[in-house]
Amino acid sequence: MVKKVLFAASEVYPFAKTGGLADVAHALPRALKNLYDVTVVMPLYRSIDREKHGIVSLGESWNITMGGVEYPIDLYGCNVEGYEYYFIYSPLLCDREFLYGTPESGYKDNDLRFALFSYAITALLKKKHYDVLHLNDWQCALAALLIHKDPMLSPKVIYTIHNLAYQGIFDATILETIGIDRTYFTMGSLEFYGRVNFMKAGIAYADEVTTVSPTYAREILTNEFGWGLEGFLHFHHAKLSGIINGIDMEHFSPTEDGALIAPYSEAKGKKANKSDLLKKLKLKGVNKPLCVFIGRFTHQKGIDLLIEALPKIADLECNIVLLGEGEEKYHKALELLCANHKNIHLTFGYDESFSHQVYAAADFLLMPSLFEPCGLNQMIAFSYGALPIVHRVGGLVDTVKRLETYQEDSCSGYGLTFNTPTSRALLGAVKKGCELFEDKKYFERIINHNMRCDFSWGESAIAYSVLYEKEREIHG
Ligand code: GLC
Repeated sequence: MVKKVLFAASEVYPFAKTGGLADVAHALPRALKNLYDVTVVMPLYRSIDREKHGIVSLGESWNITMGGVEYPIDLYGCNVEGYEYYFIYSPLLCDREFLYGTPESGYKDNDLRFALFSYAITALLKKKHYDVLHLNDWQCALAALLIHKDPMLSPKVIYTIHNLAYQGIFDATILETIGIDRTYFTMGSLEFYGRVNFMKAGIAYADEVTTVSPTYAREILTNEFGWGLEGFLHFHHAKLSGIINGIDMEHFSPTEDGALIAPYSEAKGKKANKSDLLKKLKLKGVNKPLCVFIGRFTHQKGIDLLIEALPKIADLECNIVLLGEGEEKYHKALELLCANHKNIHLTFGYDESFSHQVYAAADFLLMPSLFEPCGLNQMIAFSYGALPIVHRVGGLVDTVKRLETYQEDSCSGYGLTFNTPTSRALLGAVKKGCELFEDKKYFERIINHNMRCDFSWGESAIAYSVLYEKEREIHG
């Protein structure tokens, strides 16, 4: 019987967040709480407010030896509403301005930093017993290898890929520095085109490999979405599956959202929130559709398409709100667009409460992602009654049903979708949205339908528990 689970991630909301991983690492352990005793472990970055979260030293310190050098580690912890968190502190890992560096360039020693995090996870397993270790993304993938080569450790290891575009690829010389034998520098293990690939450790040595939607689990076996790992994933496909993410429906609930001027439970309640936001952002026209983009300004999220389509979208009778941050080149292009169009508002940065206000005000959420392992924003949009307009890829295929197939009695969320990632296709879908918006009654019916759907973690948490409990298999 599985009882104790250690869930490891490099970012966890509300402590530190750069993307959806942090939301999953927040919500999934909570959803598993009724089934298991789950502890979450992450690095104690300098940016984490220890006082605010009640994070204290647990009085446990140990030295980790990597490649003949000793690195001191301190264990910290806190308990939030009955949920237990551990934090690994080491100056090398934690004392930086950012988590990983800037979007343009990661810190040069990320290999060493996150190898140390993986060693620390392994050290924790030696001090405390866990039946299952659930690892996420490349930053803790090496822990799967460290466990594999340690006869004293035998937890079941689950490895979840949130985004195959980030694999943790480094120069092969790092192997010696992190104390990993050259015998692991093979195609079946860490080697990747003459370099070292941390994610390969997770895929090769975990008992089960998951990714965050069934469609993405199939896509990553192809050239187009495999980022060079498609062959390796094919080899391990017997232990690969896709489990769709959910959202924390309590956190994303417009009926009880303290960030909103007027909480609401159906489409017509959005209007007060919309007027308030438009006023705040000095935009005019509460009866015009409001299209929003919320997320990272990166290639993955389809920002190139969006930038190309925006002048034409802005020519439609609508308002546009953009919220996020990312690559400098996109910041410049977006600023220029914003300066030239009175109906576009741009906010850099990420403010959780403000983002809730934007969802509450929005009529449409644009997600032109080129690839999308799962995507969470479309589900948040459903819950706040904004209609998603998405490129049909990855998790967006699994979560956003085509409006053309709408059925009143279904429990799926519906939105507008387009098949090719071009600015023309995006513009076409937005135009369709604006026409639909004119049919007030029908539009409200769809919004109300979407708002009633359930996007919580319930079923997905059960799917993970099935993997936690599954008998171990020897995969070829
Ligand atoms: C990454 C993916 C996103 C996914 C999230 C959580 O940020 O890009 O699609 O929803 O991880 O799994």
